[in-house]
Amino acid sequence: MKIAMIGTGYVGLVSGVCLSDFGHEVVCVDSDPRKVEMLTRGEVPIYEPGLDTLMARNVQAGRLSFTGDLAAAVHGADAVFIAVGTPTRRGDGHADLTYVFEAARQVADALDGYAVVVTKSTVPVGTNRKVGEIIAATNPQAEFDVASNPEFLREGAAIDDFMRPDRVVVGVETTRAADVMRDIYRPLSLRDAPIVTTDLESAEMIKYAANAFLATKITFINEIAMLCERTGADVKQVARAIGLDGRIGSKFLHAGPGYGGSCFPKDTSALARIGQDNGVPMRITETVIAVNDHVRRRMIDKILDLCGGSVNGKAIAVLGVTFKPNTDDMREAPSLTIVPALIGAGAQVRVVDPQGRREGEKLLPGVTWLTDPYEAATGADCVTILTEWNEFRGLDLERLAGAMAVPRMADLRNIYDPRDVAAAGFEAYEGVGRGGFSAPAA
Ligand code: UGA
Repeated sequence: MKIAMIGTGYVGLVSGVCLSDFGHEVVCVDSDPRKVEMLTRGEVPIYEPGLDTLMARNVQAGRLSFTGDLAAAVHGADAVFIAVGTPTRRGDGHADLTYVFEAARQVADALDGYAVVVTKSTVPVGTNRKVGEIIAATNPQAEFDVASNPEFLREGAAIDDFMRPDRVVVGVETTRAADVMRDIYRPLSLRDAPIVTTDLESAEMIKYAANAFLATKITFINEIAMLCERTGADVKQVARAIGLDGRIGSKFLHAGPGYGGSCFPKDTSALARIGQDNGVPMRITETVIAVNDHVRRRMIDKILDLCGGSVNGKAIAVLGVTFKPNTDDMREAPSLTIVPALIGAGAQVRVVDPQGRREGEKLLPGVTWLTDPYEAATGADCVTILTEWNEFRGLDLERLAGAMAVPRMADLRNIYDPRDVAAAGFEAYEGVGRGGFSAPAA
């Protein structure tokens, strides 16, 4: 099959590369000439494990290419995927659909035979129908169907998620479009991945409902964590035990500094707006957004308390600033709230992150960037773990404590067992939702 992928952001690039690996002929289009040049040179603009190798393999096989020429890519394509950004619109929380509609207009002009125009971007209910109207109005001769094909991949595990999905969701209106979509995803049938075929509106809703549900699950355990801290319960034990109930499930029950990233904050906010617009307020989602914000701010107090009420003049080592491990993505990362607050309170902040520096340098002015956790901890008054990179999971705690001016740890991902931290010589420790400790002042 011949496929055009419009937009080489996270979802567009990963989907384009993976679809070419299925054996399809894929042309990825981007309006940014520098990005196209970079990709053509074989450079991957994002950090995603395995993506560079997979991209190189498929370029070499002649199945994958990059261009700025949308019309050329759409020419003769069986399917045109729209995978452009849908950021939160400034001021009102709505998804900004400017790029999606502009792409639809350009695709309409370029269509020269039957093609399915597939929206992969996360878009509010009703958008696919609108895309269809735009194409029909722009090019009344165009022969096409629209399809909604939301993506469920996670950053850092994107290739595996695309290649081994729990399900593929396809919203269509005609059997012709359904057949094309089935052909595109046929390679997954070997892995028994169910293809859920729905109408357009349900496919659009599934994506928001899935992300809002996962954001709710995380926020629920974060709220339980707050109560655990007050009552002496341990949220890790609580999460493990409730997660063993098959109806609840163990995933996405890790308490932490609140969810971040390019999707959950944007999509929960968009769902809340969709609810308001339709006279059905999404009260659970609205509360999730507010609680997540509170959880994030609470982390600042945690660090202040751990440091005896003030960080003024103190050196804080921050391990991890990306919103999760295995990505260089800093969008809506908890670090963007926590680090500036610490600097504002007078702290000197040293940061170590395996991939975050390139983006982080622009977003976190005033911090010192280092590459080694022990160097960052030397002479520090507190080590704060913000992202659970593998590099931070097996630290030599004695060495770390020995290097510090005052050995204190804020473990905001609950990586370490407080007993091990105490045994290594730390004076104070705070996790999320479980007992910390603080040695009495000498
Ligand atoms: C999320 C969804 O998991 C994907 O299914 C979806 O396709 C994607 O959004 C999207 O809409 O594009 P992603 O944002 O890459 O993927 O990352 P997640 O692994 O879901 O993590 C999101 C945030 O939740 C991170 O800040 C993470 O640290 C946090 N989280 C996750 C927790 O605090 N606790 C958990 O138990 C799990």
